[in-house]
Amino acid sequence: MYQTGSIHLTIPLSLYVHFPWCVRKCPYCDFNSHPLSGTLDEAGYLRALQRDLEIQLEDVPANSIQSVFFGGGTPSLFSPGAFAELLDSLSDVMVPNAEVTMEANPGTTEYHNFQEYRAAGINRLSLGAQSFSNVQLERLGRIHSAFETSESFAKARTGGFANVNLDLMYALPQQTVSEAIFDLTSAIALAPEHISWYQLTIEPKTEFARRPPILASESAVEGMEKRGHALLADAGYRRYEISAYATESHQCLHNLNYWTFGDYLGAGAGAHGKRSRPTGIVRTSKPRQPRLYLANPEATNQLGLAECELAGEFMMNALRLSDGVSFELFTQRTGVPFETISEQWQTLVNQGLVCEERLAATPLGYRHLDSLIQRFL
Ligand SMILES: C[S@@+](CC[C@H](N)C(=O)[O-])C[C@H]1O[C@@H](n2cnc3c(N)ncnc32)[C@H](O)[C@@H]1O
Ligand code: SF4
Repeated sequence: MYQTGSIHLTIPLSLYVHFPWCVRKCPYCDFNSHPLSGTLDEAGYLRALQRDLEIQLEDVPANSIQSVFFGGGTPSLFSPGAFAELLDSLSDVMVPNAEVTMEANPGTTEYHNFQEYRAAGINRLSLGAQSFSNVQLERLGRIHSAFETSESFAKARTGGFANVNLDLMYALPQQTVSEAIFDLTSAIALAPEHISWYQLTIEPKTEFARRPPILASESAVEGMEKRGHALLADAGYRRYEISAYATESHQCLHNLNYWTFGDYLGAGAGAHGKRSRPTGIVRTSKPRQPRLYLANPEATNQLGLAECELAGEFMMNALRLSDGVSFELFTQRTGVPFETISEQWQTLVNQGLVCEERLAATPLGYRHLDSLIQRFL
């Protein structure tokens, strides 16, 4: 852990709350999600979350949480009443009109009513569409059809959601360029405010890693990206982060806080947090297994970041943003003077990978982002 007097202690704060259950585990997914066996113990999990939050919020001043994200797993397995209760207990610490997002799986949206989620205080919805091809949805082990995604989207609109994101993936098994473009066109036709377009990655220990599907070819993936980026831009979706596209003023504030190295509390099974203290930056994590979390929601693992890790951690987030950030933000958020990396930065400027006037990747650096970030790790 390092000592610093220069971390800006007015760093924005957000809250992530994890809901670890899903109807079924998708074969590509390595999130902390567990197939639900039996009935959901909603009251039990809520009790654990309330205890967890009570402790984490002890030193959080009123009006300081700028955004809340209910992620999963599948938060939409929980009732609107559960979110109303949680948000009610958070009302003092949240800023008025904070962005409050809930992830929803289109296969669970018949369980509960969108209008009630909206009335509970959720004002942004993130729907896991993944694809608009029923063949792909089947391969991806999804529990919904393309029609059900469109139906959920329509229900979200009539339920009062004016800020909706659709999650889509590309480079799917055996996918062709025109199939990926069909998915994007179908998403754009619904006119969501935000689209997250992720390249499918085969994660270790998933079903897809054990039994690899036939993947889209490299040249097809290149074609998908070239045509996909142009299609999204023409439809008015600006790529502001490597996988995130938004219409005017609909960027996800919660994720922007991660990417600008803001602070966040992480509550729920397996949730991670980051807090800046006068003595340095601390990462927190909660027990991953729902059973262990339920037994001891107070348990928190804390890990201080070493000074030598800070530049890498910062770059891993900030360089994902297409506009990057200012050089000043680096020092404000890490407490480390930019001079400690300015020589390395200049080398990358000379290689055409990063900008001279801003902490941002050039278009060339952005195309090779993973290896660019590696240079700081
Ligand atoms: C936590 S999940 C979202 C919500 C909900 N559980 C669902 O699937 O409908 C977040 C998103 O990450 C993306 N994702 C998950 N695993 C991925 C992988 N292996 N490669 C690329 N994207 C992935 C999916 O688009 C998914 O919707
Ligand atoms: S529904 Fe979402 S979180 Fe659950 S297993 Fe599938 S991708 Fe993962």
